[in-house]
Amino acid sequence: MWSSRIAFIAAATGSAVGLGNIWRFPYITSENGGGAFVLIYLACIALVGLPIMYAEIVIGRRGRMSPINSLRELSTTSNASRNWAFIGVIGIMAGFMILSFYSVVAGWTLHYGFHYFKEWIGVGAPITDPGATFGALLGNAGELTFWHGLFMLMTVGVVGFGVEKGLERAVSVLMPVLMVLLLVLLGYGMNTGHFQEAVGFLFKPDWSQVSGSMFVTALGQAFFTLSLGMCAIMTYGAYLPANVNIPRVGVAVAGADTFVALVAGLAIFPIIIANNIDPGSGGAGLIFTSLPLAFAEMPFGIFYGMLFFVLLSVAAWTSSISLMEPATAYLVESTNLSRKAAALIVAGLSWLLGLASVFSFNLWSEVKIIGRSPMDAIDYVATQIMLPVGGLLIALFAGWVLSSKITREELDEKMPNWAYQAWLWITRVVTPALILVVLGGILNIF
Ligand code: PFF
Repeated sequence: MWSSRIAFIAAATGSAVGLGNIWRFPYITSENGGGAFVLIYLACIALVGLPIMYAEIVIGRRGRMSPINSLRELSTTSNASRNWAFIGVIGIMAGFMILSFYSVVAGWTLHYGFHYFKEWIGVGAPITDPGATFGALLGNAGELTFWHGLFMLMTVGVVGFGVEKGLERAVSVLMPVLMVLLLVLLGYGMNTGHFQEAVGFLFKPDWSQVSGSMFVTALGQAFFTLSLGMCAIMTYGAYLPANVNIPRVGVAVAGADTFVALVAGLAIFPIIIANNIDPGSGGAGLIFTSLPLAFAEMPFGIFYGMLFFVLLSVAAWTSSISLMEPATAYLVESTNLSRKAAALIVAGLSWLLGLASVFSFNLWSEVKIIGRSPMDAIDYVATQIMLPVGGLLIALFAGWVLSSKITREELDEKMPNWAYQAWLWITRVVTPALILVVLGGILNIF
């Protein structure tokens, strides 16, 4: 049981805030042309993300077990099919796939942290051409594999070997520091003289640019950034004390996550524009090729760059824990493996799958799966398809299978009845309809 509301908020925010906010959000916003995409993304957070966040916490707290068992138990007591537990299976697979490339990107951040560290102690060369530096890293499969492996070991350390006590304490200090660093970068961005343009790029919609795939990407990002659709938040909800106000903690977590993404965007785009880079040029390397330009100019920039990438790795770490947890918990429950062995197996397999992402940039740079590099293909299937499908089923389960007596007990006492009714009907109808329309678009049904 979490000792308090704050402990739950910290853990759920730790899961939500990570590479999704600081790496993925800026780069896909760039690729999708800014304003219109950002507004669609924010609408997805409000109309799909938040209702599903409530649903996951309700299911987790009511079931009080791992997702599969909670879902099984709740469907039995609701006289529904036990097959609803399949939601948990989709979640386990999605988490496993996301972890595989998440760890590769977290490896990039570890590498950059180490790079600045070496520079800081005077044994490394400065980054003079960030694009070339990043390109050289991507071309080096051995180096990428090493950092990917190191990050996976860090994650196993917590999930399998229970080093979370120290981590918890460290994170409660380090994450606010990361926030301060982002705010300082934001201040730097404001001083570049290109802040207005960046704000325009991020928030002025150009509706002529809107396309179907933009909705798919925005919806996927809403799930990814809030850690939804794969029962991660549900897992945390199982430890939430009964008297905690779910609507309020849900808004706190979703609000904090959205705030971090927007601050990251507002900090990064002025730097990009000030350096004459096209803000729409995109690419998964966006923050790695743009932020070093700022660190090269700022006072104490090298130290700052080191701190930034190290803390970003820590933020990724608190997220990867919740990506690895569902599969590990499942193995522990359904086999007689110890927790250590289960975590090592999940990490080992996910590390292996991650090699496909590592090779996407070098050995297999010509390989295309569903028209994408291996890394983008894994990201696409897990984030854009599996998370929304998981979310759809979670919304239907919470809205239609759980009796409204149960959801009312979990939510209603803490919110006025009209707000409860709004949640109920959004979860029953609006959220599923939106997800179905977007998924239907992928399949070219409409
Ligand atoms: N929300 C994390 C991020 O934005 O970096 C990624 C993530 C963690 C997704 C846990 C899904 C999840 F279950």
